[in-house]
Amino acid sequence: MRSTTRGFKLYYNPDTAGLLRMDTNTNALGGNPAAERFLAGAKIDLGGYPNTYSDGLRDALADLYGLERGNFVAGSGSDEMLDVVFKTFTEWGDNCVVPVPSYVLYDYFVGMNGGKAIQVELTEDFQLDPDAMARRDAKVIIMPSPNNPTANSFRAKDIEEILSRFDGIVVVDEAYGEYAGCGFVERVEEFDNLVVLRTFSKAYSMAALRVGYAVANKGLAEVMNCVKIPYSLNALSEGAAIAAVGDQDFIKRSVAMVDEQRPRLRKGLEKLGFRTFPSDANFIMAECPADHADIVAGLRAEGILIRDFGSKRRTENCVRTTIGTAELNGRLLDALEKVLGDLGC
Ligand SMILES: Cc1ncc(COP(=O)(O)O)c(C=O)c1O
Repeated sequence: MRSTTRGFKLYYNPDTAGLLRMDTNTNALGGNPAAERFLAGAKIDLGGYPNTYSDGLRDALADLYGLERGNFVAGSGSDEMLDVVFKTFTEWGDNCVVPVPSYVLYDYFVGMNGGKAIQVELTEDFQLDPDAMARRDAKVIIMPSPNNPTANSFRAKDIEEILSRFDGIVVVDEAYGEYAGCGFVERVEEFDNLVVLRTFSKAYSMAALRVGYAVANKGLAEVMNCVKIPYSLNALSEGAAIAAVGDQDFIKRSVAMVDEQRPRLRKGLEKLGFRTFPSDANFIMAECPADHADIVAGLRAEGILIRDFGSKRRTENCVRTTIGTAELNGRLLDALEKVLGDLGC
């Protein structure tokens, strides 16, 4: 094996049979209705290739944001876009700045492309430290906003400061941007070093189809398109994503549901003794009133899966749960109450 990937472990792959999944931050309203209608009626030329660079989807996104097709790179999930970023902008051995705590796969994509992940701590309240992030010896700085797993957005002024002080590429991963209601997509032409990532896996509720995109000024987007694997977005997924872009009402409903449920779920968790952290996304991180592993295992026995971050640095004894519908949140809180009771809390 290549020396840079020799230590790699398999990614999160739990046995989920029969379990309610509140561990992946997907949309609890169910699959995207416009995409489902498209799939039900789709007539695809199975023998033909899809468009090389997903031009149809890039045009739909350009209309949505008031940008141009040339600002977009589309592919198989924003995870593919992460890979493309490091393939395009880093040489073997280059440093890339990754905040701690943040999305667990950043280190993996940096390492897979031969780079070195430099971990930089977020501040006490999980915000960016621009002085520590904007290192001269790095090629790429990456950050999710809203952050995963903490769920808070970073301050726009801190991201702007990093963009102006840092010579390399700054990646703002807005996988949960629809929930935060703001972001940097519309501003990509203002900066020569900004790449924004978005996904159809969360608010758009199409994770099964694996669609994601990068947005940048046209120069950066073109070099990324040159590096990306041609045809990587299949025709069914592209068609479904175009249909989904046309149904912004579903996105509004999805965001409104989370806005309504977030304070209720937070309150319910606090009542059970959890300490919750501020959320701008469709999930909440919470510090447990008992041992995190016992709580996650107890919930699993009750048929519910949440994500355990309790053994990681800066999220000690914390778990992360998706914000569900009123019914799902009720199930989660009832099950948690039972689990905590069984644990003698
Ligand atoms: C911050 C962040 N970025 C990227 C992704 C990957 O999204 P996709 O399904 O588009 O590959 C996730 C998925 O959980 C995420 O939380």
